[in-house]
Amino acid sequence: MAIKHFLQFKDLSRDELDYIFKRASWIKTQFKAYQRYWPLSDRTLVMIFEKASTRTRLSFEAGMQQLGGSAIYLNTRDSQLGRGEPVEDAAQVISRMSDIVMIRTFEQEIIERFAANSRVPVINGLTNEYHPCQTLADIFTFIEHRGPIQGKTVAWIGDSNNVCNTWLQAAEVLDFNVHVSTPPGYEVEPERAGLYGNAHYEEFSDPMKAAKSADLVTTDVWTSMGFESENEERKRDFADWQVDEEMMRVAKKNALFMHCLPAHRGEEVDALVIDGNQSVVWDEAENRLHVQKALLEYLLLGRIDG
Ligand code: CP
Ligand code: NVA
Repeated sequence: MAIKHFLQFKDLSRDELDYIFKRASWIKTQFKAYQRYWPLSDRTLVMIFEKASTRTRLSFEAGMQQLGGSAIYLNTRDSQLGRGEPVEDAAQVISRMSDIVMIRTFEQEIIERFAANSRVPVINGLTNEYHPCQTLADIFTFIEHRGPIQGKTVAWIGDSNNVCNTWLQAAEVLDFNVHVSTPPGYEVEPERAGLYGNAHYEEFSDPMKAAKSADLVTTDVWTSMGFESENEERKRDFADWQVDEEMMRVAKKNALFMHCLPAHRGEEVDALVIDGNQSVVWDEAENRLHVQKALLEYLLLGRIDG
């Protein structure tokens, strides 16, 4: 099989995604039943972090071990990556010593340059533009709770950031709708989001209108990693873009609430919502593990029966 990377959500087709969700479900069931499943024994994942992480590191490292393989953690601070070694050279070397690589970095261009020089599959563990593993877990979580996402409406409230862009790509691949509401000046940039068109999303200046009749309401921090210098200005600009109980009330009665985490209660989400009974944030976080195990298996072994 030719090397397959997962650099943005649309790198996987609907058919491949259906397969990965099916595998994730099977892998999760085996794991919960303490059934050993080691298809990746002798395989090594290298994880490169240029930004902080709890969930992404933990889910990839634990996931790789649970599949019988091993994971190595590198960060900018104590590798040559932080001292100006060209990303192309790093890719040549790292991909000769490993079977698969996951990278969390700044511009999408960095991961694309790495992938172009890699002998092994590369997974995007978050860039300024995208967070495809997160949306993979989010959609898997939605399917577990509510069934197929096709035709459903997702309300995105807040910043048109990496997670928002990924939801917009996912809507095109899996044929659902996203209602986006951002403060003025923070609207979706279709080219940056890597969209084919605007048929699967609609922008609303009023967040209540975006949330109306949604099947899922989701949000994220007002200030993403790498944009900390804008924090104070963003706190002012985003003050009216908090998901609270009033907003959840205009969504469908059985609407779910998701947040990729880490969350700031009292900023983008009210504690009553994230800690309330429509919230599935802990399932969402756990599912990073199961869905990424299915992704690792698919990128390394292709389709297998099981
Ligand atoms: N949601 C997410 O990617 O979390 P971390 O930043 O902790 O990896
Ligand atoms: N948008 C956030 C997601 C963190 C998981 C960030 O990029 O910091």
